[in-house]
Amino acid sequence: MTERKLRSQAWFGGDDKDAFIHRSWMKNMGLPDDAFDGRPVIGICNTFSEFTPCNAHFRELVEHVKRGVLDAGGLPLEFPVFSCGESNLRPTAMLFRNLASMDVEEAIRGNPMDGVVLMAGCDKTTPSLMMGAASCDLPSIVISGGPMLNGRFQGRTIGSGTDVWKFSEEVRAGTMSREDFMAAEAGMSRSAGHCMTMGTASTMATMVEALGMALPGNAAWPAVDANRARLARMTGRRIVAMVREDQRMSQILTRAAFANAIRVNAAAGGSTNAVVHLLAIAGRIGTDLTLEDWDRYGRGIPTILDLMPSGRFLMEDFCYAGGLPALMAEIREHLDLGAMTVSGATVEDNLADVRNFNPEVIRPTGRALCEEGGIAVLRGNLAPDGAILKPSAATPELMVHSGRAVVFSSIEDFKARIDDPDLEVDEDSVLVLQNCGPRGYPGMAEVGNMALPRKLLERGVRDMVRISDARMSGTAFGTVVLHAAPEASAGGTLALVRDGDVIALDVPARRLELKVDAAELDRRRAQWTAPPARAEGGYAGLYVHTVQQANLGADLDFLRGNRGHEVPRESH
Ligand code: FES
Repeated sequence: MTERKLRSQAWFGGDDKDAFIHRSWMKNMGLPDDAFDGRPVIGICNTFSEFTPCNAHFRELVEHVKRGVLDAGGLPLEFPVFSCGESNLRPTAMLFRNLASMDVEEAIRGNPMDGVVLMAGCDKTTPSLMMGAASCDLPSIVISGGPMLNGRFQGRTIGSGTDVWKFSEEVRAGTMSREDFMAAEAGMSRSAGHCMTMGTASTMATMVEALGMALPGNAAWPAVDANRARLARMTGRRIVAMVREDQRMSQILTRAAFANAIRVNAAAGGSTNAVVHLLAIAGRIGTDLTLEDWDRYGRGIPTILDLMPSGRFLMEDFCYAGGLPALMAEIREHLDLGAMTVSGATVEDNLADVRNFNPEVIRPTGRALCEEGGIAVLRGNLAPDGAILKPSAATPELMVHSGRAVVFSSIEDFKARIDDPDLEVDEDSVLVLQNCGPRGYPGMAEVGNMALPRKLLERGVRDMVRISDARMSGTAFGTVVLHAAPEASAGGTLALVRDGDVIALDVPARRLELKVDAAELDRRRAQWTAPPARAEGGYAGLYVHTVQQANLGADLDFLRGNRGHEVPRESH
Protein backbone atom coordinates (compact mmCIF):
# COMPACT_ATOMS: atom_id res chain seq x y z
CA MET A 1 0.00 0.00 0.00
CA THR A 2 1.27 3.46 -0.86
CA GLU A 3 2.58 5.82 1.81
CA ARG A 4 0.79 8.71 0.10
CA LYS A 5 -2.63 9.50 1.55
CA LEU A 6 -5.14 8.86 -1.16
CA ARG A 7 -7.69 11.42 -2.25
CA SER A 8 -10.58 9.12 -1.36
CA GLN A 9 -9.47 9.17 2.28
CA ALA A 10 -10.71 12.79 2.46
CA TRP A 11 -14.15 11.16 2.32
CA PHE A 12 -13.68 7.72 3.86
CA GLY A 13 -10.83 8.22 6.36
CA GLY A 14 -11.30 9.34 9.96
CA ASP A 15 -13.94 8.77 12.60
CA ASP A 16 -16.01 11.95 12.55
CA LYS A 17 -19.58 12.61 11.43
CA ASP A 18 -18.59 13.31 7.82
CA ALA A 19 -16.67 10.05 7.43
CA PHE A 20 -19.64 8.23 9.04
CA ILE A 21 -21.95 9.70 6.42
CA HIS A 22 -19.69 8.85 3.48
CA ARG A 23 -19.05 5.28 4.64
CA SER A 24 -22.46 4.44 6.02
CA TRP A 25 -24.37 5.13 2.83
CA MET A 26 -21.79 3.19 0.80
CA LYS A 27 -22.32 0.23 3.09
CA ASN A 28 -25.86 -0.11 1.77
CA MET A 29 -24.18 -1.77 -1.25
CA GLY A 30 -22.75 -4.46 0.99
CA LEU A 31 -19.26 -3.02 1.30
CA PRO A 32 -17.32 -4.33 4.33
CA ASP A 33 -15.33 -2.11 6.70
CA ASP A 34 -12.05 -2.86 5.01
CA ALA A 35 -13.32 -1.39 1.72
CA PHE A 36 -12.42 1.97 3.26
CA ASP A 37 -9.03 1.05 4.67
CA GLY A 38 -7.07 3.30 2.32
CA ARG A 39 -7.11 1.10 -0.76
CA PRO A 40 -7.32 2.95 -4.11
CA VAL A 41 -10.88 3.82 -5.07
CA ILE A 42 -11.28 3.46 -8.81
CA GLY A 43 -14.11 5.23 -10.59
CA ILE A 44 -15.30 3.40 -13.68
CA CYS A 45 -16.84 5.91 -16.03
CA ASN A 46 -19.40 3.98 -18.08
CA THR A 47 -21.05 5.32 -21.26
CA PHE A 48 -23.52 2.42 -21.48
CA SER A 49 -26.79 3.36 -23.11
CA GLU A 50 -29.26 1.47 -25.25
CA PHE A 51 -29.50 4.65 -27.33
CA THR A 52 -25.79 4.19 -28.01
CA PRO A 53 -25.81 0.69 -29.52
CA CYS A 54 -22.03 0.75 -30.00
CA ASN A 55 -21.67 0.81 -26.19
CA ALA A 56 -24.63 -1.40 -25.30
CA HIS A 57 -22.36 -4.28 -24.20
CA PHE A 58 -20.68 -2.18 -21.51
CA ARG A 59 -22.74 -3.74 -18.72
CA GLU A 60 -20.84 -6.97 -19.33
CA LEU A 61 -17.50 -5.37 -20.13
CA VAL A 62 -17.50 -3.35 -16.91
CA GLU A 63 -17.60 -6.54 -14.85
CA HIS A 64 -14.20 -7.51 -16.24
CA VAL A 65 -12.80 -4.08 -15.35
CA LYS A 66 -14.14 -4.45 -11.80
CA ARG A 67 -12.57 -7.89 -11.40
CA GLY A 68 -9.25 -6.43 -12.48
CA VAL A 69 -9.51 -3.63 -9.92
CA LEU A 70 -10.36 -6.16 -7.20
CA ASP A 71 -7.49 -8.45 -8.29
CA ALA A 72 -5.09 -5.58 -7.66
CA GLY A 73 -6.56 -4.59 -4.29
CA GLY A 74 -8.61 -1.58 -5.35
CA LEU A 75 -12.26 -0.71 -4.77
CA PRO A 76 -14.15 -0.38 -8.09
CA LEU A 77 -17.11 2.00 -8.16
CA GLU A 78 -18.97 2.43 -11.42
CA PHE A 79 -20.72 5.65 -12.43
CA PRO A 80 -22.76 6.56 -15.52
CA VAL A 81 -22.21 9.64 -17.66
CA PHE A 82 -23.92 11.18 -20.65
CA SER A 83 -23.53 8.82 -23.60
CA CYS A 84 -23.16 10.50 -27.00
CA GLY A 85 -24.44 7.95 -29.51
CA GLU A 86 -23.56 8.81 -33.08
CA SER A 87 -26.34 6.97 -34.87
CA ASN A 88 -29.29 8.41 -32.94
CA LEU A 89 -28.51 11.74 -31.31
CA ARG A 90 -29.89 14.80 -33.10
CA PRO A 91 -29.04 17.33 -34.33
CA THR A 92 -25.56 15.81 -34.01
CA ALA A 93 -23.71 13.95 -31.27
CA MET A 94 -20.90 16.49 -31.62
CA LEU A 95 -23.15 19.16 -30.10
CA PHE A 96 -23.15 17.13 -26.89
CA ARG A 97 -19.47 16.11 -26.76
CA ASN A 98 -18.66 19.16 -24.63
CA LEU A 99 -21.73 18.68 -22.42
CA ALA A 100 -20.72 15.08 -21.77
CA SER A 101 -17.20 16.22 -20.96
CA MET A 102 -18.58 18.57 -18.28
CA ASP A 103 -20.51 15.67 -16.78
CA VAL A 104 -17.35 13.54 -16.70
CA GLU A 105 -15.17 16.28 -15.22
CA GLU A 106 -17.55 17.20 -12.41
CA ALA A 107 -18.41 13.57 -11.60
CA ILE A 108 -14.72 12.77 -11.23
CA ARG A 109 -13.76 15.81 -9.18
CA GLY A 110 -16.79 15.77 -6.91
CA ASN A 111 -16.57 12.10 -5.94
CA PRO A 112 -14.17 10.11 -3.78
CA MET A 113 -12.00 8.54 -6.43
CA ASP A 114 -8.25 8.15 -6.82
CA GLY A 115 -8.12 6.95 -10.40
CA VAL A 116 -10.49 6.52 -13.32
CA VAL A 117 -11.18 3.91 -15.99
CA LEU A 118 -12.81 5.53 -19.01
CA MET A 119 -15.11 3.15 -20.92
CA ALA A 120 -15.58 4.55 -24.40
CA GLY A 121 -16.64 3.25 -27.79
CA CYS A 122 -18.92 5.18 -30.10
CA ASP A 123 -17.32 8.21 -31.78
CA LYS A 124 -17.89 11.06 -29.33
CA THR A 125 -17.74 8.96 -26.19
CA THR A 126 -13.95 8.74 -26.41
CA PRO A 127 -13.15 12.46 -26.73
CA SER A 128 -15.83 13.49 -24.23
CA LEU A 129 -14.37 11.17 -21.60
CA MET A 130 -10.80 12.13 -22.39
CA MET A 131 -11.61 15.85 -22.28
CA GLY A 132 -13.44 15.68 -18.97
CA ALA A 133 -10.79 13.49 -17.35
CA ALA A 134 -7.99 15.70 -18.70
CA SER A 135 -9.48 18.70 -16.91
CA CYS A 136 -9.11 16.73 -13.65
CA ASP A 137 -5.74 15.10 -14.30
CA LEU A 138 -6.09 12.06 -12.05
CA PRO A 139 -4.49 8.72 -12.99
CA SER A 140 -6.72 7.64 -15.88
CA ILE A 141 -6.81 4.83 -18.41
CA VAL A 142 -9.10 4.06 -21.34
CA ILE A 143 -10.68 0.74 -22.27
CA SER A 144 -12.49 0.91 -25.59
CA GLY A 145 -15.51 -1.25 -26.29
CA GLY A 146 -13.97 -2.68 -29.45
CA PRO A 147 -15.23 -2.86 -33.02
CA MET A 148 -18.05 -5.01 -34.38
CA LEU A 149 -17.21 -8.13 -36.38
CA ASN A 150 -16.84 -7.56 -40.12
CA GLY A 151 -20.12 -6.80 -41.87
CA ARG A 152 -21.38 -9.45 -44.32
CA PHE A 153 -23.87 -9.04 -47.15
CA GLN A 154 -24.61 -11.32 -50.09
CA GLY A 155 -21.37 -13.24 -49.68
CA ARG A 156 -19.05 -10.27 -49.31
CA THR A 157 -17.58 -8.11 -46.60
CA ILE A 158 -19.16 -4.71 -45.96
CA GLY A 159 -18.06 -1.90 -43.67
CA SER A 160 -19.98 0.34 -41.27
CA GLY A 161 -20.83 3.69 -42.73
CA THR A 162 -18.55 3.42 -45.77
CA ASP A 163 -20.89 1.00 -47.55
CA VAL A 164 -23.97 2.93 -46.44
CA TRP A 165 -22.70 5.95 -48.39
CA LYS A 166 -21.88 3.74 -51.39
CA PHE A 167 -25.20 1.87 -51.31
CA SER A 168 -27.19 5.05 -50.97
CA GLU A 169 -25.43 6.60 -53.99
CA GLU A 170 -26.08 3.36 -55.92
CA VAL A 171 -29.78 3.50 -55.08
CA ARG A 172 -29.89 7.12 -56.23
CA ALA A 173 -27.99 6.20 -59.43
CA GLY A 174 -30.45 3.31 -60.00
CA THR A 175 -27.83 0.54 -59.78
CA MET A 176 -29.05 -1.01 -56.47
CA SER A 177 -32.59 -2.09 -55.61
CA ARG A 178 -34.39 -0.80 -52.53
CA GLU A 179 -34.86 -4.42 -51.41
CA ASP A 180 -31.12 -5.07 -51.43
CA PHE A 181 -30.55 -1.77 -49.65
CA MET A 182 -32.89 -2.84 -46.86
CA ALA A 183 -31.33 -6.31 -46.69
CA ALA A 184 -27.86 -4.82 -46.20
CA GLU A 185 -28.98 -3.23 -42.90
CA ALA A 186 -28.94 -6.47 -40.95
CA GLY A 187 -25.64 -7.61 -42.41
CA MET A 188 -23.76 -4.46 -41.58
CA SER A 189 -24.05 -4.53 -37.78
CA ARG A 190 -23.80 -8.19 -36.75
CA SER A 191 -22.31 -8.08 -33.26
CA ALA A 192 -21.78 -5.86 -30.26
CA GLY A 193 -19.24 -3.10 -30.79
CA HIS A 194 -18.62 0.12 -32.67
CA CYS A 195 -18.16 0.79 -36.39
CA MET A 196 -15.54 -1.57 -37.80
CA THR A 197 -14.21 0.66 -40.54
CA MET A 198 -11.48 3.18 -39.73
CA GLY A 199 -14.24 5.63 -38.89
CA THR A 200 -14.13 7.98 -35.96
CA ALA A 201 -14.71 5.34 -33.27
CA SER A 202 -11.89 3.10 -34.50
CA THR A 203 -9.77 6.17 -35.08
CA MET A 204 -10.28 7.44 -31.54
CA ALA A 205 -9.62 3.98 -30.07
CA THR A 206 -6.43 4.03 -32.13
CA MET A 207 -5.62 7.55 -30.93
CA VAL A 208 -5.92 6.71 -27.24
CA GLU A 209 -3.63 3.72 -27.70
CA ALA A 210 -1.14 5.79 -29.74
CA LEU A 211 -1.26 8.55 -27.11
CA GLY A 212 -0.31 5.95 -24.53
CA MET A 213 -3.66 6.24 -22.72
CA ALA A 214 -4.73 2.61 -23.23
CA LEU A 215 -2.97 -0.75 -22.97
CA PRO A 216 -1.42 -2.17 -26.16
CA GLY A 217 -4.06 -3.97 -28.24
CA ASN A 218 -6.89 -1.66 -27.20
CA ALA A 219 -7.68 -0.36 -30.68
CA ALA A 220 -8.47 -3.54 -32.54
CA TRP A 221 -9.68 -6.49 -30.44
CA PRO A 222 -13.32 -7.04 -31.52
CA ALA A 223 -15.93 -6.29 -28.89
CA VAL A 224 -17.01 -9.94 -28.73
CA ASP A 225 -13.51 -11.47 -28.58
CA ALA A 226 -12.53 -12.88 -25.19
CA ASN A 227 -9.31 -10.89 -25.51
CA ARG A 228 -11.34 -7.69 -25.17
CA ALA A 229 -12.60 -8.93 -21.81
CA ARG A 230 -9.05 -9.94 -20.82
CA LEU A 231 -7.83 -6.46 -21.78
CA ALA A 232 -10.59 -4.92 -19.65
CA ARG A 233 -9.42 -6.99 -16.69
CA MET A 234 -5.80 -6.00 -17.23
CA THR A 235 -6.95 -2.36 -17.48
CA GLY A 236 -8.63 -2.69 -14.09
CA ARG A 237 -5.45 -4.11 -12.60
CA ARG A 238 -3.26 -1.46 -14.17
CA ILE A 239 -5.24 1.57 -12.95
CA VAL A 240 -4.68 0.48 -9.35
CA ALA A 241 -0.94 0.40 -10.00
CA MET A 242 -1.14 3.80 -11.68
CA VAL A 243 -2.76 5.27 -8.59
CA ARG A 244 0.00 3.84 -6.43
CA GLU A 245 2.60 5.28 -8.83
CA ASP A 246 0.65 8.57 -9.08
CA GLN A 247 0.94 8.33 -12.88
CA ARG A 248 -1.41 11.12 -13.94
CA MET A 249 -2.82 11.99 -17.35
CA SER A 250 -0.55 15.01 -17.75
CA GLN A 251 2.47 12.71 -17.54
CA ILE A 252 1.18 10.72 -20.52
CA LEU A 253 -0.38 13.43 -22.69
CA THR A 254 2.84 15.22 -23.56
CA ARG A 255 3.62 16.90 -26.85
CA ALA A 256 5.56 13.77 -27.87
CA ALA A 257 2.44 11.68 -27.27
CA PHE A 258 0.31 13.94 -29.48
CA ALA A 259 2.99 13.90 -32.19
CA ASN A 260 2.97 10.10 -32.08
CA ALA A 261 -0.82 10.02 -32.32
CA ILE A 262 -0.86 12.37 -35.32
CA ARG A 263 1.70 10.19 -37.11
CA VAL A 264 -0.25 7.06 -36.30
CA ASN A 265 -3.42 8.71 -37.61
CA ALA A 266 -1.64 9.29 -40.92
CA ALA A 267 -0.38 5.71 -41.08
CA ALA A 268 -3.82 4.34 -40.21
CA GLY A 269 -5.77 6.58 -42.60
CA GLY A 270 -7.69 7.84 -39.57
CA SER A 271 -10.71 10.09 -39.47
CA THR A 272 -10.54 13.86 -39.92
CA ASN A 273 -12.59 14.07 -36.73
CA ALA A 274 -9.47 13.20 -34.76
CA VAL A 275 -8.21 16.70 -35.56
CA VAL A 276 -10.85 18.56 -33.54
CA HIS A 277 -10.89 15.94 -30.79
CA LEU A 278 -7.13 15.90 -30.17
CA LEU A 279 -6.98 19.70 -30.28
CA ALA A 280 -9.74 19.81 -27.66
CA ILE A 281 -8.06 17.20 -25.44
CA ALA A 282 -4.73 19.05 -25.66
CA GLY A 283 -6.53 22.27 -24.74
CA ARG A 284 -7.88 20.59 -21.61
CA ILE A 285 -4.67 19.04 -20.35
CA GLY A 286 -2.66 22.16 -21.23
CA THR A 287 -0.36 20.74 -23.90
CA ASP A 288 0.50 23.16 -26.67
CA LEU A 289 -0.92 21.66 -29.91
CA THR A 290 -1.99 23.59 -33.01
CA LEU A 291 -3.76 22.80 -36.25
CA GLU A 292 -0.43 23.25 -38.04
CA ASP A 293 1.00 20.40 -35.96
CA TRP A 294 -1.34 18.05 -37.83
CA ASP A 295 0.29 18.98 -41.11
CA ARG A 296 3.82 19.13 -39.67
CA TYR A 297 3.86 15.78 -37.89
CA GLY A 298 1.73 13.91 -40.43
CA ARG A 299 3.68 15.03 -43.49
CA GLY A 300 5.71 12.29 -45.11
CA ILE A 301 3.95 9.52 -43.18
CA PRO A 302 2.42 7.03 -45.62
CA THR A 303 -0.93 5.36 -45.02
CA ILE A 304 -0.01 1.71 -44.62
CA LEU A 305 -3.21 0.34 -43.13
CA ASP A 306 -5.38 -1.05 -45.92
CA LEU A 307 -8.70 -0.41 -44.18
CA MET A 308 -11.98 1.10 -45.34
CA PRO A 309 -12.70 3.87 -46.14
CA SER A 310 -9.21 4.38 -47.60
CA GLY A 311 -8.58 0.70 -48.35
CA ARG A 312 -10.09 -2.79 -48.45
CA PHE A 313 -10.12 -4.43 -45.02
CA LEU A 314 -11.85 -3.95 -41.66
CA MET A 315 -10.91 -3.77 -37.98
CA GLU A 316 -11.25 -7.53 -37.41
CA ASP A 317 -8.62 -8.08 -40.12
CA PHE A 318 -6.44 -5.39 -38.52
CA CYS A 319 -6.66 -7.20 -35.19
CA TYR A 320 -5.59 -10.56 -36.63
CA ALA A 321 -2.72 -8.84 -38.45
CA GLY A 322 -1.32 -7.71 -35.11
CA GLY A 323 -3.35 -4.60 -34.36
CA LEU A 324 -1.97 -1.18 -33.57
CA PRO A 325 1.32 -2.38 -32.04
CA ALA A 326 2.18 -4.01 -35.37
CA LEU A 327 1.28 -0.84 -37.26
CA MET A 328 3.32 1.33 -34.88
CA ALA A 329 6.26 -1.04 -35.27
CA GLU A 330 6.15 -0.53 -39.06
CA ILE A 331 6.58 3.24 -38.62
CA ARG A 332 8.76 3.08 -35.52
CA GLU A 333 11.46 5.32 -37.04
CA HIS A 334 8.90 8.15 -37.17
CA LEU A 335 7.79 7.76 -33.56
CA ASP A 336 9.07 9.20 -30.30
CA LEU A 337 9.87 5.85 -28.74
CA GLY A 338 10.64 7.35 -25.35
CA ALA A 339 7.05 8.49 -24.76
CA MET A 340 5.62 6.96 -21.57
CA THR A 341 2.35 5.01 -21.63
CA VAL A 342 -0.21 3.81 -19.11
CA SER A 343 1.26 0.32 -19.33
CA GLY A 344 4.08 1.70 -17.19
CA ALA A 345 6.47 1.20 -20.09
CA THR A 346 7.60 3.38 -22.99
CA VAL A 347 6.37 3.06 -26.56
CA GLU A 348 9.68 1.35 -27.37
CA ASP A 349 9.13 -1.26 -24.67
CA ASN A 350 5.57 -1.83 -25.80
CA LEU A 351 6.76 -2.51 -29.38
CA ALA A 352 9.40 -5.06 -28.44
CA ASP A 353 8.72 -8.49 -30.01
CA VAL A 354 5.71 -7.18 -31.96
CA ARG A 355 5.05 -8.85 -35.33
CA ASN A 356 2.98 -8.08 -38.40
CA PHE A 357 1.05 -11.23 -39.30
CA ASN A 358 -0.54 -9.94 -42.50
CA PRO A 359 1.39 -7.48 -44.70
CA GLU A 360 -1.65 -7.19 -46.97
CA VAL A 361 -3.55 -5.46 -44.16
CA ILE A 362 -0.64 -3.67 -42.46
CA ARG A 363 1.59 -2.95 -45.41
CA PRO A 364 5.29 -2.34 -45.22
CA THR A 365 6.09 1.34 -45.80
CA GLY A 366 7.61 0.49 -49.18
CA ARG A 367 4.21 -0.69 -50.39
CA ALA A 368 2.04 2.05 -48.89
CA LEU A 369 -1.59 2.60 -49.76
CA CYS A 370 -0.96 6.33 -50.07
CA GLU A 371 2.41 8.07 -49.83
CA GLU A 372 1.00 11.15 -48.08
CA GLY A 373 -1.28 9.91 -45.34
CA GLY A 374 -1.39 12.97 -43.16
CA ILE A 375 -4.06 15.61 -42.88
CA ALA A 376 -3.49 18.54 -45.24
CA VAL A 377 -4.07 21.86 -43.48
CA LEU A 378 -5.12 24.45 -46.08
CA ARG A 379 -4.84 28.21 -45.79
CA GLY A 380 -6.01 31.05 -48.00
CA ASN A 381 -8.62 33.77 -48.06
CA LEU A 382 -11.39 31.17 -47.93
CA ALA A 383 -10.10 29.77 -44.63
CA PRO A 384 -7.72 32.21 -42.93
CA ASP A 385 -7.71 30.12 -39.76
CA GLY A 386 -7.40 26.87 -41.66
CA ALA A 387 -9.36 24.08 -43.27
CA ILE A 388 -8.47 20.41 -43.65
CA LEU A 389 -8.56 17.68 -46.27
CA LYS A 390 -7.69 14.00 -46.03
CA PRO A 391 -5.59 13.18 -49.11
CA SER A 392 -5.87 9.42 -48.70
CA ALA A 393 -9.67 9.65 -49.08
CA ALA A 394 -9.57 12.11 -51.98
CA THR A 395 -9.29 11.72 -55.76
CA PRO A 396 -5.69 12.45 -56.87
CA GLU A 397 -6.86 14.24 -60.05
CA LEU A 398 -8.84 16.74 -57.96
CA MET A 399 -6.04 17.73 -55.61
CA VAL A 400 -5.26 20.73 -57.80
CA HIS A 401 -8.55 22.03 -59.12
CA SER A 402 -10.35 25.25 -59.98
CA GLY A 403 -14.07 25.42 -60.49
CA ARG A 404 -17.13 27.59 -60.18
CA ALA A 405 -18.97 27.56 -56.88
CA VAL A 406 -22.47 26.19 -56.46
CA VAL A 407 -23.50 27.55 -53.07
CA PHE A 408 -25.97 26.17 -50.52
CA SER A 409 -26.80 28.30 -47.51
CA SER A 410 -27.83 25.41 -45.24
CA ILE A 411 -28.15 21.64 -45.32
CA GLU A 412 -31.89 22.05 -45.90
CA ASP A 413 -31.19 24.27 -48.91
CA PHE A 414 -28.76 21.64 -50.17
CA LYS A 415 -31.25 18.78 -49.81
CA ALA A 416 -33.98 20.80 -51.49
CA ARG A 417 -31.96 21.66 -54.60
CA ILE A 418 -29.15 19.15 -55.15
CA ASP A 419 -31.22 16.83 -57.34
CA ASP A 420 -33.02 19.62 -59.22
CA PRO A 421 -32.47 18.81 -62.92
CA ASP A 422 -32.17 22.55 -63.58
CA LEU A 423 -29.36 23.11 -61.04
CA GLU A 424 -26.42 24.68 -62.88
CA VAL A 425 -23.69 22.23 -61.95
CA ASP A 426 -21.17 20.04 -63.74
CA GLU A 427 -18.32 17.78 -62.63
CA ASP A 428 -15.90 20.72 -62.47
CA SER A 429 -18.13 22.71 -60.13
CA VAL A 430 -17.19 23.17 -56.48
CA LEU A 431 -20.06 22.47 -54.07
CA VAL A 432 -20.05 24.95 -51.18
CA LEU A 433 -22.08 24.43 -48.01
CA GLN A 434 -22.45 27.29 -45.52
CA ASN A 435 -23.63 27.58 -41.92
CA CYS A 436 -22.87 24.03 -40.78
CA GLY A 437 -19.95 24.83 -38.48
CA PRO A 438 -19.79 24.68 -34.67
CA ARG A 439 -21.98 27.74 -34.13
CA GLY A 440 -24.01 27.58 -37.33
CA TYR A 441 -25.48 24.07 -37.25
CA PRO A 442 -25.04 24.15 -34.20
CA GLY A 443 -22.59 21.38 -33.39
CA MET A 444 -20.59 21.08 -36.62
CA ALA A 445 -22.52 18.17 -38.07
CA GLU A 446 -21.08 15.48 -40.32
CA VAL A 447 -22.63 16.87 -43.48
CA GLY A 448 -19.45 17.99 -45.27
CA ASN A 449 -19.35 14.99 -47.60
CA MET A 450 -22.37 16.27 -49.53
CA ALA A 451 -24.02 13.74 -51.84
CA LEU A 452 -23.38 14.46 -55.51
CA PRO A 453 -26.15 15.73 -57.82
CA ARG A 454 -28.19 12.82 -59.18
CA LYS A 455 -27.77 13.92 -62.77
CA LEU A 456 -23.98 13.74 -62.39
CA LEU A 457 -24.13 10.39 -60.59
CA GLU A 458 -26.14 8.99 -63.48
CA ARG A 459 -23.36 10.15 -65.80
CA GLY A 460 -20.85 8.19 -63.73
CA VAL A 461 -19.32 11.09 -61.75
CA ARG A 462 -18.21 9.74 -58.34
CA ASP A 463 -16.30 12.65 -56.78
CA MET A 464 -16.26 16.44 -56.86
CA VAL A 465 -14.56 19.11 -54.77
CA ARG A 466 -16.76 20.02 -51.82
CA ILE A 467 -16.08 22.74 -49.25
CA SER A 468 -17.78 23.53 -45.95
CA ASP A 469 -17.33 24.49 -42.32
CA ALA A 470 -18.82 21.12 -41.32
CA ARG A 471 -17.17 17.80 -40.47
CA MET A 472 -17.57 14.49 -42.26
CA SER A 473 -18.01 11.00 -40.98
CA GLY A 474 -14.76 9.13 -40.55
CA THR A 475 -16.25 6.42 -42.73
CA ALA A 476 -16.75 8.82 -45.65
CA PHE A 477 -14.46 9.65 -48.55
CA GLY A 478 -14.02 12.12 -51.37
CA THR A 479 -12.21 15.37 -52.17
CA VAL A 480 -13.85 17.14 -49.29
CA VAL A 481 -12.52 20.30 -47.66
CA LEU A 482 -13.75 20.49 -44.07
CA HIS A 483 -13.64 22.58 -40.89
CA ALA A 484 -13.18 25.92 -42.75
CA ALA A 485 -12.47 28.56 -40.13
CA PRO A 486 -13.79 31.00 -39.30
CA GLU A 487 -17.11 29.36 -40.13
CA ALA A 488 -19.78 31.09 -42.22
CA SER A 489 -22.04 31.84 -39.26
CA ALA A 490 -19.16 33.63 -37.54
CA GLY A 491 -18.60 35.86 -40.57
CA GLY A 492 -15.88 33.78 -42.25
CA THR A 493 -15.18 34.28 -45.96
CA LEU A 494 -17.15 31.09 -46.61
CA ALA A 495 -20.27 33.17 -45.93
CA LEU A 496 -19.37 35.52 -48.80
CA VAL A 497 -19.09 32.94 -51.60
CA ARG A 498 -21.68 33.30 -54.36
CA ASP A 499 -22.73 31.07 -57.23
CA GLY A 500 -20.28 31.28 -60.09
CA ASP A 501 -17.28 32.51 -58.03
CA VAL A 502 -14.11 30.65 -58.92
CA ILE A 503 -12.50 28.62 -56.12
CA ALA A 504 -8.95 27.30 -56.45
CA LEU A 505 -7.84 24.28 -54.42
CA ASP A 506 -4.15 23.38 -54.43
CA VAL A 507 -3.47 20.65 -51.89
CA PRO A 508 0.28 20.24 -52.56
CA ALA A 509 0.68 24.01 -51.96
CA ARG A 510 -1.83 23.84 -49.06
CA ARG A 511 -3.88 26.72 -50.57
CA LEU A 512 -7.61 27.37 -50.73
CA GLU A 513 -8.51 30.63 -52.48
CA LEU A 514 -11.69 32.39 -53.44
CA LYS A 515 -10.80 34.19 -56.66
CA VAL A 516 -12.72 37.35 -55.86
CA ASP A 517 -10.80 40.58 -55.37
CA ALA A 518 -10.43 42.04 -51.91
CA ALA A 519 -12.52 45.16 -52.62
CA GLU A 520 -15.48 43.03 -53.73
CA LEU A 521 -15.10 40.81 -50.67
CA ASP A 522 -15.07 43.90 -48.45
CA ARG A 523 -18.26 45.10 -50.12
CA ARG A 524 -19.95 41.73 -49.54
CA ARG A 525 -18.71 41.62 -45.96
CA ALA A 526 -20.24 45.03 -45.26
CA GLN A 527 -23.60 43.74 -46.53
CA TRP A 528 -23.41 40.45 -44.63
CA THR A 529 -25.62 39.93 -41.60
CA ALA A 530 -25.21 37.00 -39.26
CA PRO A 531 -27.96 34.40 -39.57
CA PRO A 532 -30.16 34.19 -36.46
CA ALA A 533 -28.73 31.85 -33.84
CA ARG A 534 -30.30 28.42 -34.21
CA ALA A 535 -30.57 28.02 -30.46
CA GLU A 536 -31.42 30.29 -27.56
CA GLY A 537 -31.59 29.03 -24.02
CA GLY A 538 -30.76 25.62 -22.69
CA TYR A 539 -27.49 23.87 -23.35
CA ALA A 540 -27.59 24.60 -27.10
CA GLY A 541 -27.91 28.30 -26.35
CA LEU A 542 -24.87 28.16 -24.08
CA TYR A 543 -23.05 26.23 -26.80
CA VAL A 544 -23.62 28.69 -29.67
CA HIS A 545 -22.48 31.61 -27.53
CA THR A 546 -19.30 30.01 -26.20
CA VAL A 547 -18.10 27.44 -28.74
CA GLN A 548 -14.67 28.01 -30.23
CA GLN A 549 -13.82 27.51 -33.87
CA ALA A 550 -12.68 24.21 -35.34
CA ASN A 551 -9.01 25.17 -35.39
CA LEU A 552 -9.15 25.29 -31.58
CA GLY A 553 -11.03 22.01 -31.22
CA ALA A 554 -14.59 23.34 -31.01
CA ASP A 555 -14.54 23.24 -27.22
CA LEU A 556 -16.52 25.72 -25.14
CA ASP A 557 -14.22 28.62 -24.31
CA PHE A 558 -14.74 28.34 -20.54
CA LEU A 559 -13.98 24.61 -20.51
CA ARG A 560 -10.43 24.81 -21.82
CA GLY A 561 -7.81 24.05 -19.23
CA ASN A 562 -6.81 21.63 -16.50
CA ARG A 563 -8.67 22.53 -13.31
CA GLY A 564 -7.11 19.72 -11.32
CA HIS A 565 -8.55 17.34 -8.76
CA GLU A 566 -8.31 19.17 -5.47
CA VAL A 567 -10.82 17.78 -2.99
CA PRO A 568 -13.85 20.11 -2.89
CA ARG A 569 -15.30 21.47 0.37
CA GLU A 570 -17.35 19.13 2.53
CA SER A 571 -21.05 19.01 1.68
CA HIS A 572 -22.52 18.71 5.17
FE1 FES B 1 -21.15 4.33 -33.02
FE2 FES B 1 -20.18 4.39 -35.60
S1 FES B 1 -22.22 4.79 -34.86
S2 FES B 1 -19.17 4.02 -33.76
